[in-house]
Amino acid sequence: MSGDQTKSRKLEHVQLSLSRDVQFKTLTTLFEQVDLLPNGSPEKINISSVRTGTKFLGKMINAPIFASGMTGGHEQVAKINFDIAEGISEAGLAMGVGSQRAMIEDPSLAYTYDVKKEHDLILMGNLGAAQTTKYSIDKIDGMVSGIEADALCIHTNPGQEAAQPEGNIDFRGVTSAISEISSKLGKPVIVKEVGNGISRDVALRLRNAGIYGIDAGGSGGTNWIAIELYRSKGKSNAEIFKEWGIPTAQSLIEIKSSFDGFVTATGGIRSGKDVAKAVALGADACGIGMPLVQAQSKAGATGVHDYLTNIIEELKAEMARLNCRNIEDLKKIRFNISPYFTDILRQRISEGKLNLLMNRTKH
Ligand SMILES: Cc1cc2nc3c(=O)[nH]c(=O)nc-3n(C[C@H](O)[C@H](O)[C@H](O)COP(=O)(O)O)c2cc1C
Repeated sequence: MSGDQTKSRKLEHVQLSLSRDVQFKTLTTLFEQVDLLPNGSPEKINISSVRTGTKFLGKMINAPIFASGMTGGHEQVAKINFDIAEGISEAGLAMGVGSQRAMIEDPSLAYTYDVKKEHDLILMGNLGAAQTTKYSIDKIDGMVSGIEADALCIHTNPGQEAAQPEGNIDFRGVTSAISEISSKLGKPVIVKEVGNGISRDVALRLRNAGIYGIDAGGSGGTNWIAIELYRSKGKSNAEIFKEWGIPTAQSLIEIKSSFDGFVTATGGIRSGKDVAKAVALGADACGIGMPLVQAQSKAGATGVHDYLTNIIEELKAEMARLNCRNIEDLKKIRFNISPYFTDILRQRISEGKLNLLMNRTKH
C-alpha cells in the first residue's frame, strides 16, 4: 500500500468518526452488568478529600485516564492531536497518538504526532501489529524516539483489517516480532485492540512474549468494522461481522486472569462510573477514544479539557459514594456481576481462575 493511501485513510477515519454513528448497536461493554457495592456510610471522607491520582508508566497522573491513540499522519489531523495534547496536559493525564506508519512512510509527517514539542505529558507511540514484521527495530526505535514517546502501543486489529478491502490480514510472525521489539526497544510495549477485545488466550501468548502491558480495546464503544464498511462503499463483505468482538469488561477480566502486568481498559468508556468499574475489575487506567475527537471538533482543546474534567468529577463522586479515599481503595471495592455476565465468564474461564476474581463479588 502506498504512503498516500495510508495518509488519506487516516483522514477518512476521522471524518467518518465525526459524520456517522459508528458505535456498537447491540454489543455493549458489559460494564452495565457490574455493580460496585457501597462500602458503608461515607462518614470518613468527603468528596474534596477523594484523591484520583495514580501511577502510569512510572509517573503520577491526576486520574486513571488517558487519551487512546487515534490520529496523526495527515496535515489536516495534526491540530486534533495538538488540541487533545493540550486538554490532556492541562488535566494532568496521559495520551497516545494514532498509528505512526504514515510517518515511517513519509518522515515529513512526523510533526503531526510530535505533541511533546509543545506539551508536557506522558506519551505513547503507536504501530499496527501487521507492520511489526515489516520494519526493522532501528526504524521502530526511530519512530518512537522521534516523538519522545514514553512507550509504544502496538495495535492488533484483525476484525478491522478483514473489513477493509485493502486490509492486511497476514498476522503471521507478529508474536515473535512483538517479543523482539519488547526486548530491544528499551521502552515499555503495550499491545492493544481497537474495539474487538483481547481474549485470555491472546493475553497468555502476549505474557509469554514478555510485553509490559495489554489494553483490552473491547467492544461496546467505537465499532471499527462499521467505520470500514462506510469507507468501503459496498466493497467490503463484513456486514455480518458488524456486532463482533469481546466486550470491554469481559476482555478485561480475561486478561487479568492470565496476565499480571500493566492492564488498561479502552472501548466504550463514557463516564466516571465506567472508569470506577474498570478499576474495580483490575484496570490500571482507562482509555477514551472517540468522545475526545468529538469534543475537539466542537470546542478544540477546551472541549477536550472540559470533557475530561467532567469524567474526573464523576469518578470522584462515585468514589465518595463508595467510601474510597483513593485509587488503591477503589481497586479493593467489592462488586456484583449479573447472572448473565457470570454465565459468560464461566464458559470462558476455568472455575479456579474465575474464583480468583469472583471472591470479591457477593453471591
Ligand atoms: C478516529 C479514530 C482513529 C483511531 N486510530 C487508531 C490508531 O491509529 N491506532 C490505534 O491503536 N487505535 C486507533 N483508534 C482506536 C482507539 O484507540 C480506541 O481503541 C477505540 O476507538 C475504542 O475506544 P472508544 O470506544 O473510546 O472510541 C482510533 C479511534 C478513532 C476514533
